[in-house]
Amino acid sequence: MAALLEVSHVDVCRGETQVLWDICLAVEKGERVAILGSNGAGKTSFLAAVTGAIPPARGEIRFDGRSLAGMRPHAITGLGIALVPEGRRVYKEMSVRENLEMGAFPKRARGSLKETMAHVVELFPILAKRKDQPAGTLSGGEQQMLAIGRALMSRPRLLLVDELSLGLAPMVTKTIYRTLSALEHDLTILLVEQNVEQALHFSQRAHILESGRLIRTGDSADLMADAGIRRAYLGM
Ligand SMILES: Nc1ncnc2c1ncn2[C@@H]1O[C@H](COP(=O)(O)OP(=O)(O)O)[C@@H](O)[C@H]1O
Ligand SMILES: [Mg+2]
Repeated sequence: MAALLEVSHVDVCRGETQVLWDICLAVEKGERVAILGSNGAGKTSFLAAVTGAIPPARGEIRFDGRSLAGMRPHAITGLGIALVPEGRRVYKEMSVRENLEMGAFPKRARGSLKETMAHVVELFPILAKRKDQPAGTLSGGEQQMLAIGRALMSRPRLLLVDELSLGLAPMVTKTIYRTLSALEHDLTILLVEQNVEQALHFSQRAHILESGRLIRTGDSADLMADAGIRRAYLGM
């Protein structure tokens, strides 16, 4: 059976500059996978290639057996790929409820808006409490919950999360990871993080990206136990 996401030999350029080289990876249905790398490694650029925001210069990305080549971002969203963007990017003037409703724009999600909304506020009860507040009044952690909730509103099959923990207190990060861990296992999650420890705890498998190239892939538990990784990425 084909993997849900198959990335083969992908190069990505931003303007004239190449930022990713020969990326190959696969994410199986239901898997939780992390891509780890420091600032500037190319993590966000990789997610931009998957969502169609920056189509690959070379190589191919397939989702559920189908090539994404030439597809516009909204069409890719429509297939069931949702991104929680770096820096959350909630609509600050709009209410929490409106932000969530915006997430349900793909056709596959519109009919079940009410049920999905109920599910999302069950995952993040604080969003129900804040539903009529402008999103800009929420704390950083609450905005991250809202950004995840908004992505879930599209009823994705693959959830991409860019720097979940960035700027958040460790306790808040932990809470959000715990919630993501409890999500239905037919939802596949690919996240990119600088926070190596949390991401390795969360994921089953991880890839390490350095200066635009994948240099290492393994089971997260093995990577966590690896002395070289602990020295280089965990400061131990
Ligand atoms: N809008 C942009 N235009 C040109 N280069 C960019 C742009 N955004 C990021 N880059 C460059 O692309 C490389 C990868 O960046 P990025 O994908 O944002 O890495 P990460 O998310 O791992 O921090 C970096 O060298 C960065 O300077
Ligand atoms: Mg980034």
